[in-house]
Formats: sequence, C-alpha cells, structure tokens
Amino acid sequence: MSKKRLVILGATGSIGRSVADVVCAHPERFDVMAVVGGGNAEALAAMARELNAHFAAIADEAQGAALHAALSGSGIAHGAGASAVTDAARMDCDLVIASIVGTAGLFPSFTALSHAPAIALANKECLVSAGHAFMAEAKKRNVVVLPMDSEHNAIHQALAGHKADDIETMTLTASGGPFRDWDAAAIRVARPEQALAHPNWSMGRKVTIDSASLMNKGLELIEAHHLFGIAASKLDVVVHPQSIVHGMVSFADGSVIAGLACPDMRVPIAHCMAYPERLPLQTKRLDLASLGRLDFTAPDEARFPCLRLARSALADGGDRPTVLNAANEIAVAAFLDREIPFGGIAAVVEGVLESLPHQGAPASVGDALAIDAEARHHARRFVQSRLSAAQ
Ligand SMILES: NC(=O)c1ccc[n+]([C@@H]2O[C@H](COP(=O)([O-])OP(=O)(O)OC[C@H]3O[C@@H](n4cnc5c(N)ncnc54)[C@H](OP(=O)(O)O)[C@@H]3O)[C@@H](O)[C@H]2O)c1
Repeated sequence: MSKKRLVILGATGSIGRSVADVVCAHPERFDVMAVVGGGNAEALAAMARELNAHFAAIADEAQGAALHAALSGSGIAHGAGASAVTDAARMDCDLVIASIVGTAGLFPSFTALSHAPAIALANKECLVSAGHAFMAEAKKRNVVVLPMDSEHNAIHQALAGHKADDIETMTLTASGGPFRDWDAAAIRVARPEQALAHPNWSMGRKVTIDSASLMNKGLELIEAHHLFGIAASKLDVVVHPQSIVHGMVSFADGSVIAGLACPDMRVPIAHCMAYPERLPLQTKRLDLASLGRLDFTAPDEARFPCLRLARSALADGGDRPTVLNAANEIAVAAFLDREIPFGGIAAVVEGVLESLPHQGAPASVGDALAIDAEARHHARRFVQSRLSAAQ
C-alpha cells in the first residue's frame, strides 16, 4: 500500500500534535510532505524532525532565522512568511489537514483547495467566516471535505449511505464547559484560568474559551450548516457533560443514529486521516456499563448568550457569521489579556453585530477577509471603550 502524503497546517497546535501521534503510531501509512506553524520555530522544527517532513513553513517571517537554526543539519527544506505557507499549502499531496486556529487559517485552507484531492477541516472558523465560498470552491474542484471536529465527524459517520431528504434533525452535543453549573453572575466575572480549565478536553486556548462561552457550539452549528447543507431550523444542540455521544442524526422514520467514543480527538482525526479506511488506534475504549449513565439537558442561552448570538447569525445569514467570528476572536484575545471580563465577550460580539449594517455573504476569501477586517476594527473599538469606561 502506498503511503498517504499529508500536509499539516497548524502542526504545532493541539490538533497538530494529535495528528503527529497518529502518524507516529502508523509510520508505514503516512508520508508528511509539509508542516506549517505560526510563530514557534523550536516547536515546528521539532515536529518536522519527528515526522521526517520534507518541508517546514513558519508564518511569522521574523522567525525564519530561528527555524533555519533549529533545522540545521536535518536536510529539511524550510521557509518563512506568507509565501512559504502558501508553498506548503500547494504541495502535491493526498490530504491537507487544516488545523490553523482562527481566521489565519482561511487563506491557507482555500489555497489547499486548489491543489489537494481531500482536506480534513479542524479549522471551523474557515466555514463560519466563508462557508458558502469554501464549499462552492470545494465542489467546483471536486475536493473531498472531511470534518475533523468530533461532533461533525460523528454526524458524517452517521450519515453514511443515507439520503439528505430523509434527515429530520442533526444534533450536536456540548459538554457545557467549566461553567455548566455556574450562575450567570459568576460566569460574567470568571477569570481566564477558570475558563481554560475544561473538564473533558485538552485543546488550544481559543477553542477552550469558546467552549466555556458555548460560542464554540454556535460556531459548530454554522459549520454543520455548510458542511452538510442542512437548514438552520433542523440543527440542534444538547448539553451532554460526559462527552461520549458527539453527534446524532434523526431520520424521517424516527430512527436516530449517534456517534459515540471516549473524548479523544485522535479518534476523529484518525478517521479523517485513514478515510475511507480505518486505522487501529490505542485509545481508551468505551465501556457503557462502567459509565453507568449519560446525561442530557437543553442549553441555557440566558447564561450563555454567545450561543444565542451565533444561532441568530446563522438564521440571519449574509455576512453575520463572518462578523460574529471576527468579533469573537478579538473579544476572546481581549479576555485572555484580562482587558475585558468573561461576560464582555458576548457584549463585544453583540455590539459589533448591532453596529455593522447587514451585507451579503462573502462570495470569495477576499470578501470574507475584508468583512473580517472591518469587524475586527469595530471589535477593538468596543474593547477600548470598555477599557476606558473601567478606568
Ligand atoms: N484542539 C481541539 O481539540 C479542537 C477540536 C475541534 C476543533 N478544533 C479547531 O482546530 C483549530 C486548531 O485548534 P487547536 O486547539 O489545535 O489550536 P492551537 O493549539 O492554538 O494551535 C494552533 C495552530 O495554528 C498555528 N498558527 C497560529 N497562527 C498561525 C498563522 N498566522 N499562520 C499559520 N499557523 C498559525 C499555531 O502555530 P504556533 O504554535 O507556532 O503558534 C498552531 O500550530 C481551531 O480552529 C479549533 O477550533 C480544535
């Protein structure tokens, strides 16, 4: 069997490291063509060496010399800056793994669509910000889009062999995050270290904060809408603290097919990497009898307003999801920098959505980036005005 050639965008992140675990467990199955990172040259060089990658690209041009030094003697080709990232995204390969965090992943993921036969998407912001354009481009170029997010991966598996017309609803589960049982007043003033303490998943900082605010689930609803071409009215969320059931599809005859697994991102990651085959993987196995019970409750949008904001952005359509996503990225960064309280995240996002007039959905990555830039600008002003008011 010939090896599957991979390009890993966001190789040094939480998803990237899990991808590397799967490659290392099955070196006979994968050949890593390129690894891409943001600004951590040491980590990228270590990853490139570990995976025996052919090429390493770092987005931060200023880190080029550090990457060069860290790869000295390895024989691994490397480059720095946007052009090096584009070179990596265009490499001849069988699968691109899109796991850069945030809107920074938009352009490299779009670039990959023009060269790769398949893309495994962890970067949900790409579909939230430019979902119509992304899916249209993938369709035009016949690129297989595989969902790496655990909820969408479970739904993708549940859908196999079923007709779209037979689907009644799709349900994404949410763990509820660290503030699941907190009252609204306590959530509003929660500190970064409290929001970063996720009960079930170990992830990058941005997605961990999004999980605590339930914005992550809102972004995932928008992601599901684009991935599966399903109407917003047929998408639902249920809080499930154990994170065992990841996603469910309900069909017209009342049957429900759910995807279950212990919470470990290597499970959906390996599914995408081996698709359409399966890889044996040493992960914790599901033991329902010892678990004893699985709990489900409806999400509380009064305590978690980010979910409400994302739902209305999805229902309103047009540029709303792009604006929501950009404002959220700025607000999350401001929260992590202790410039605004946790409750300020929803306030900034809502303020930006209200202050910017509605436009149509971005038709290209360029349109999406322009809307994104304007929304970021407004979000920074909202953060600044809250800072000034607090002084
Ligand atoms: N972690 C999870 O379990 C999980 C689950 C489902 C979906 N996702 C989604 O997967 C994506 C990645 O999440 P993560 O948790 O792996 O994030 P993360 O740990 O923060 O890693 C982000 C990766 O992106 C790279 N990066 C940042 N800015 C970049 C830029 N401008 N150009 C190129 N690379 C850049 C980082 O490089 P440096 O290390 O050099 O900064 C790092 O490799 C997110 O969209 C997230 O929502 C994550």
